[in-house]
Amino acid sequence: RYGNIFKTRILGYPCVMISSPEATKSVLVTHAHLFKPTYPASKEKLIGPEAVFFQHLGDYHSMLKKLVQSTFMPSAIKNSVFDEVEQIVLKLLPTWSNTTIIALQEMKRYAFEVAAISAFGEIMEIEFKQIKDLYRNLEKGYNSYPLYVPGTSYWKSIKARKLLNETIRRLIHKRRDNNDYGGGLLGVLLKARGDRIKKLTDSQIIDNLIGVIFAAHDTTASVLTWVLKYLHDNVNLLEAVTEEHEGIKNKLVMENRGLTWDDTRQMPLSGRVIQETLRSASILSFTFREAVQDVELEGYNIPKGWKVLPLFRTIHHSADFFPQPETFDPSRFEVAPKPNTFLPFGNGVHSCPGSELAKLEMLILLHHLTLSYRWQVVENGDGIQYSPFPVPKHGLLINIIPRNKIPT
Ligand code: HEM
Repeated sequence: RYGNIFKTRILGYPCVMISSPEATKSVLVTHAHLFKPTYPASKEKLIGPEAVFFQHLGDYHSMLKKLVQSTFMPSAIKNSVFDEVEQIVLKLLPTWSNTTIIALQEMKRYAFEVAAISAFGEIMEIEFKQIKDLYRNLEKGYNSYPLYVPGTSYWKSIKARKLLNETIRRLIHKRRDNNDYGGGLLGVLLKARGDRIKKLTDSQIIDNLIGVIFAAHDTTASVLTWVLKYLHDNVNLLEAVTEEHEGIKNKLVMENRGLTWDDTRQMPLSGRVIQETLRSASILSFTFREAVQDVELEGYNIPKGWKVLPLFRTIHHSADFFPQPETFDPSRFEVAPKPNTFLPFGNGVHSCPGSELAKLEMLILLHHLTLSYRWQVVENGDGIQYSPFPVPKHGLLINIIPRNKIPT
């Protein structure tokens, strides 16, 4: 009953839990047409029902997916956001120096800025601030009880969503009126012309911009918080990562130039630390699908309407695929994982289009942080809290110390 596929109930709904790589592939890839993504209605309303996550196949989904993927593929972000991401890091780091920070909070600040610049391209400071403040109110409703009564978090969140709609709509009209569509995903969506869908509507564009910020923000910030925790707890690893970045820095000094995209492709140890963090923390422990008709999956009958949950964390923590799974060991990624066993960014039609951007954000931050700073956990950071993803307790309180102030 508790094998790789078993049935349970969550909040009264029958759910099929899946923890074999093969069955996961079947649900997310091979038979993806039989399993649609499913989210709570309240969340769909807050993000916007026309966002890519809520679509199940069809012309609209495939057009959107192509547009979002093309915006965040390596060849695009290399030119569109690389410099901006580094500038954000270089501005942010000195504000942490000699202070105690809540790592999660600061990583959210960072990830939000990167998400906003990727979503909107260049925007005026005042527009950025408006969007940021409204988004902050909107996100408070994501996991609140959906009670639409004045004063509740959900009500405030719906109000913020309406205002965000107006703010982004003004931005859209400004760009359309000026015939200058600008950069970011917004520019791509404004220019888009499909075969069957001639042009995207304002609300389709707005839902997808908010959707991308939602998808890019807490996820990347939570993983980065874990990267800091694991490196703090593994001093030798931190020193080895620093050495990798010192090697790059020496090269930059010799060649009298700044960090480039190509340099970020030459950070193998940092890349493995990120992979192992994605595996070990598995911040997206699972995802939800719903059977669109009666389906037979590996000998089990799944009735239409039942939820199906591929359990990423269980696969990532299976000793069959990752020996000694509770040990943090980036060297395990010196060998490629077995097919369909490493799924931090999902798989198939709904897999994450932002994985390369997320990795780039982490590499650039690691480069500058390890070269110039050290961090000390202030309180025992061994517990876990859900914010909404699993993160170290209290968001990981750390003192940031300039490296040149550390006695040798
Ligand atoms: C480390 C950070 C991130 C992690 C762990 C992550 C993980 C995931 C996963 C597992 C999925 C698939 C969910 C499913 O199949 O139900 C997904 C979807 C998605 N992610 Fe990410 N993601 C991250 C960062 C980002 C970033 C930076 C962006 C922005 C560009 C982004 C945009 C999206 C979008 C738009 C989808 C929905 C795709 C669709 O439904 O077709 N993600 N992400």
